[in-house]
Amino acid sequence: MKKKYTNGDVTVVWSPDLCIHSEKCARGLGSVFNPDVRPWVNMDGGTSAEISAQVAKCPSGALSILEEEKSEDSPVHSAPVQVLADGPLRIPGPCVITLIDGTEEKREKDAFLCRCGHSAKKPFCDGSHKREGFTG
Ligand code: FES
Repeated sequence: MKKKYTNGDVTVVWSPDLCIHSEKCARGLGSVFNPDVRPWVNMDGGTSAEISAQVAKCPSGALSILEEEKSEDSPVHSAPVQVLADGPLRIPGPCVITLIDGTEEKREKDAFLCRCGHSAKKPFCDGSHKREGFTG
């Protein structure tokens, strides 16, 4: 379930099902993003510009800024799939992933597909590869 955090100027949307727990947000702007406290997003910890800039660096797209609804015709580009060392497959976004049941998941940002076999959110990576010490 998505969660929203706002300071009245910008609204950050967190999609936990997309998060690969890279913690780039916490390392980049720890005064706002701190997974050790609840709520883990403190919108008073930085300026709107700082928050937006950090959200833009989220590698999985789990963090985003609430925007107007995008057109269904958003462009989907074809780009090379990348195997990340000791981690998932990176599918450059925007992209569409067709699931086993035929449904399609559209991603505005990169998608990360589990390569270690331990994700509880298959086919997507949930960061379990780190805990399991996956190498490859
Ligand atoms: S590669 Fe990340 S959970 Fe499997």
